[in-house]
Amino acid sequence: MNETVVAPDLRAFMSVALRKQGVVGAVAPSSPALARALTAVVPTRGTPVVVELGPGTGSISEVIRERLPPGSRHLAVEIEPVLAAHLRRTKPWMETIQGDAADLGALLAGAGVERADAVVSTLPWSLFPGGQQERILGEIGRILDPAGAFTTVTYLHAVPLAGARALRRRLRATFDEVLTTGPVWRNLPPGMTYVCRRPVARV
Ligand SMILES: C[S@@+](CC[C@H](N)C(=O)[O-])C[C@H]1O[C@@H](n2cnc3c(N)ncnc32)[C@H](O)[C@@H]1O
Repeated sequence: MNETVVAPDLRAFMSVALRKQGVVGAVAPSSPALARALTAVVPTRGTPVVVELGPGTGSISEVIRERLPPGSRHLAVEIEPVLAAHLRRTKPWMETIQGDAADLGALLAGAGVERADAVVSTLPWSLFPGGQQERILGEIGRILDPAGAFTTVTYLHAVPLAGARALRRRLRATFDEVLTTGPVWRNLPPGMTYVCRRPVARV
């Protein structure tokens, strides 16, 4: 469990996770170890645009914030209205957008953003039907800068399952380079991370 999670974050996370396991797909917020692995692609120079998908109560958001130089933009897309409201209250330094990552391009356009230098996702891919995985990856591929990077995670126990296998196939179809990193053992549950570059599927 993330030792930096403060009680209100944990309370908000658990209250939604217990009611909506089919949307949240995790038993606890991500650990600092997983957050560090996923956010290593976030630029620490310049004024990048970083997009976070499925921020939950913000355990990854805090680590993104630590890396980002002043003047950068940090947009976080969360589908659960309760969690989006919690993030707006507790993390006013990032731009929380309540919506579905499947509509990413339109949601970012509404915020005046056309390109992202990094996209960091903890979306519960294994819960998504194939069409939704494909649609979200297509949206990410379209908004990611050609020199940018996309990172995501699947939980270790889900790696052999159909949803995770389909995700890996789709990652390879969407990006020229897909590096499997991890596992990150210090997370509940442990996770495999993927670092993807050079989107090819700009359809
Ligand atoms: C596994 S939790 C990760 C939460 C947090 N980022 C962390 O690492 O602790 C997945 C999050 O994705 C959100 N989510 C699920 N489907 C989504 C979608 N289609 N678009 C945006 N967010 C979604 C859930 O509400 C939940 O907050």
